[in-house]
Amino acid sequence: MCVYSYSNFKSLLSVVLVVSISLAVSNSAYAHGGGPVYEKRHVYMNELGDIMKAFGNFVKRGKGDLTDLSQKAARIIDLAPELPSHFPPDTGLNHNKESQAKPIIWEKWDDFISASERLVDLGKGLESAFASENEAQISTAVKQMGEEGCRACHSQFRIKKN
Ligand code: HEC
Repeated sequence: MCVYSYSNFKSLLSVVLVVSISLAVSNSAYAHGGGPVYEKRHVYMNELGDIMKAFGNFVKRGKGDLTDLSQKAARIIDLAPELPSHFPPDTGLNHNKESQAKPIIWEKWDDFISASERLVDLGKGLESAFASENEAQISTAVKQMGEEGCRACHSQFRIKKN
């Protein structure tokens, strides 16, 4: 009897856990304007953000390992081609008050794609900078990625600065 109720308790516990996990997931989707497109976009951009933070930590504080950072540069190159797919039509700030995506994205779609493609060249520049192990070259390549990669697109296509 005692064993029976213990296993009952365990299955109840797992139900509670599953419910609270799915609540946490739908909460964060709601916090970002509801809907899988915005949530996936948020996750996608945040991964880029985390990579840039890792680069910044290396340049400013000497933290991090060059092999790992080089893999992160390669990850940007891999991620770049899918960037436009996170912006299907009608998913800008005029369709979702929490989005920072300007409607001009869809008016200047070719420019938006070029801005995404730019991440590939800048990512390659980062890879060779990390391979060189030369601090000045690394910090220039990180700065270029930030300014000509991320900020160049954000300043034109996103409200609010970085
Ligand atoms: C081709 C354009 C483009 C490029 C390149 C780009 N972004 Fe973005 N990013 C956007 C847009 C547009 C938004 C706003 C999306 C929204 O709110 O719906 C955004 C949002 C973000 C956000 C906020 C995400 C959130 O939901 O809180 C972060 C962080 C971010 N970008 C980081 C980066 C970093 C780092 C890079 C460079 C490695 C980068 N982005 C490159 C267009 C771009």
